[in-house]
Amino acid sequence: MNRRLGVLISGTGTNLQALIDATGGGQLDASIVLVISNRPEAPGLDRARRAGIEAIVIDHRSWRSRDEYDAAIVQALKARSASLVCLAGYMRLVGRVLLDAFPNAILNIHPSLLPAFPGMNAQHQAIEHGVKVSGVTVHVVTLELDGGPIILQRIVPVLDGDTRDTLADRILDEEHRAYPEAVRIVLEGGWEIVGRRFVRSAGGPSA
Ligand code: GRF
Repeated sequence: MNRRLGVLISGTGTNLQALIDATGGGQLDASIVLVISNRPEAPGLDRARRAGIEAIVIDHRSWRSRDEYDAAIVQALKARSASLVCLAGYMRLVGRVLLDAFPNAILNIHPSLLPAFPGMNAQHQAIEHGVKVSGVTVHVVTLELDGGPIILQRIVPVLDGDTRDTLADRILDEEHRAYPEAVRIVLEGGWEIVGRRFVRSAGGPSA
């Protein structure tokens, strides 16, 4: 059954593009039915429109509270029968209202090997700390920022000559492979959340 995806963005949308390419190219048995940006100027909106995908702005500054803002997002997603939500460079915290509407069905991608370097500028944190490997994490979203059960991680080497930008570029390339793969794993089913762990049924390779 072709799963209906909603994608939330705030900016460039290269991860959105990776999901557009994966769903459009048949790699994922899913369709993106709505893209929502909290920022009117997000270039990712045009990526969606160029792909013929409905793209709307729900500007967080127009709502009195996080709950009311999140409720507007829920309403837009439910009106299009989205059943899985992908945060793709979405820079707002997800609140209880959105989480309750999509239990264990909101994913996020983060440019480090969580729990290392949560929050902003993860690539810069990795350079500053002097790690030799960093990477990408796709996880289930919970109230804990960057703290939900991990679906998939991919390692990215940190080179001696790296700057935050060269590392960010290398990580971003890996993100574009990792996110569609993580969505495929979720859509495949046969998994459960056990404590903090995203556990696949026997026989499935570790993510
Ligand atoms: C990516 O590095 C992602 O990991 C982080 O924000 C960036 C978004 O990039 N959450 P884009 O908007 O998908 O190009």
